[in-house]
Amino acid sequence: MQVQMASLPLFSPLHFLPSNQSSFPPNSTFHFHLHNPQHPFTTNANPSSSDKKAQDFATNPVQGIGGDPKKKKAKEKVHWVCSNCGYNAGQWWGVCRSCGEAGTMKEFHETKGSDNKVSGFAVMDGAVGSWLPHQDETQLRPLRLAEVNRSLDQLHWRIPLNGPCGNEISRVLGGGLVPGSLTLVGGDPGVGKSTLLLQIAAMITEECNDSEASPVVYVSGEESVEQIGNRADRLGITADIYLYSSTDIEDILKKVQYLSPRALVIDSVQTVYLKGIMGSPGGIMQVKECTSALLRFAKTTDIPVLLIGHVTKSGDIAGPRVLEHIVDVVLYMEGEKYSTHRMLRAVKNRFGSTDELGVFEMSHSGLQAVSNASEMFLSEQHLDSEILAGLAVAVIMDGSRTFLIEIQALCLSGSIGSRQVNGIHANRADMIISVLIKQAGLRLQENAVFLNVVSGLTLTETAGDLAIAAAICSSFLEVPIPNDIAFIGEIGLGGELRMVPRMEKRVYTVAKLGYRMCIVPKTAEKTLRNEGLEKMTLLGCRNLKDVINTVFPKTGPTVKPVYPSIAP
Ligand code: TYD
Ligand code: MG
Repeated sequence: MQVQMASLPLFSPLHFLPSNQSSFPPNSTFHFHLHNPQHPFTTNANPSSSDKKAQDFATNPVQGIGGDPKKKKAKEKVHWVCSNCGYNAGQWWGVCRSCGEAGTMKEFHETKGSDNKVSGFAVMDGAVGSWLPHQDETQLRPLRLAEVNRSLDQLHWRIPLNGPCGNEISRVLGGGLVPGSLTLVGGDPGVGKSTLLLQIAAMITEECNDSEASPVVYVSGEESVEQIGNRADRLGITADIYLYSSTDIEDILKKVQYLSPRALVIDSVQTVYLKGIMGSPGGIMQVKECTSALLRFAKTTDIPVLLIGHVTKSGDIAGPRVLEHIVDVVLYMEGEKYSTHRMLRAVKNRFGSTDELGVFEMSHSGLQAVSNASEMFLSEQHLDSEILAGLAVAVIMDGSRTFLIEIQALCLSGSIGSRQVNGIHANRADMIISVLIKQAGLRLQENAVFLNVVSGLTLTETAGDLAIAAAICSSFLEVPIPNDIAFIGEIGLGGELRMVPRMEKRVYTVAKLGYRMCIVPKTAEKTLRNEGLEKMTLLGCRNLKDVINTVFPKTGPTVKPVYPSIAP
């Protein structure tokens, strides 16, 4: 199951340069210039030398071709940089050799012979270098693992996030925020990234009761301090957070250094810029160098930095993969347009597992942890399923979390062969229907079959096969399935039930939620221990016929196989 992220185009008023665009960058440490890129597939993409001479002559007719021989032109090195992934090549390629996108290689000229190159690392050192504690040269040597671990206070190493919401975030981070880490939080516009980070900032501030303790600084390049203050007000945040509105990384780091904060939040990476780096904020070079500067800042000061990143149309954070390589942790916030549920997922985590999933609900007072996450996808009608045929509960996993979701089926006699599926892969649905016809003897070929997964989820796991089949049987036979039965299992082409991964975890979740019965493959029944399952009947079935005879006992005998038995 994956909640798909919508791909909305990004529009931010600060995405483009302010009015001083023409003079950007303000100082003269500007070594790159963008060669106006032509279409890469036209033959003019790489102008011939004669064309170049003609251009020289046109721009400077007095000096003629080649310019003033006394004025030595600095040698230029040409790079071709992919605007999609940042891949840097010495020559032009029609298709980027890193990400495979066509026509994305853009030409960049780097002036040779100048020593003062600008990079995120260098700028960061310039900005905060003066107040960093000077490291003893003798300490800069390879250390033994035991030495490193001895100097680390494992208990207090991570910054804890308290409260139900904090626990949920900690769980995704692998147990709290790691000092000196750079965390990138991505997500669609409006999904709640700013809300989440403001809440995290409040949690960290509240955590240190000591009034002398360092504060948390929330820097926004998108909103004014009043707007952030207003949001904090709505969220009921009273913690002593420092707010700052700026887009210049150098300025941000300089201003922040005096506060020596416990954590720094930057909203967002697409709005900040580094002077001296080519391109407008949000451009691939800017985003990359700004992130490098923040990474260096985090590593050298041990201040954790939380960075918001907008997602591109393809669902990646600003220039796919570029930022994800630089940062320590990448979190994605997902949510559906019309649902208040939000999921926080780690796609990269240098300090923990990427299996964890945080589940929240967006309320009028911000994000709240969902207490009954396993049941949140069950529809309310499920309570009436004693009288409603065609409903079955599947047990699926997302990361390390178990969710019960409801599968709905509707079989309509008279419209032959028509099939409509929602939230289930059409091929899988076709397979299950065919197996039901052939191996269980249901005359589904004379029916139109509609399938739906409640809550707009997409079922990607085969563990839901059995619930799909059960829902179809229920609708076809017009016998409701009692609402305290759950189904787990994959269906094979022979109609046999197969094991699925993490059976134990699924079964225990079902038992914990008070279900009376759980239908599983026969092989799973033998392997599962009975501890904690006293109140639930675990029923192992070999194949679909077994399931039908168990769940629909009255109709079981009437279901006759339509295929002729093979004579010996
Ligand atoms: P926001 O954090 O601004 O999203 P992002 O930074 O990802 O663009 O959240 C915006 C949405 O959250 C907005 O549609 C309103 C909703 N929201 C609530 O429902 N409750 C709240 O308390 C807050 C602050 C926002
Ligand atoms: Mg925002």
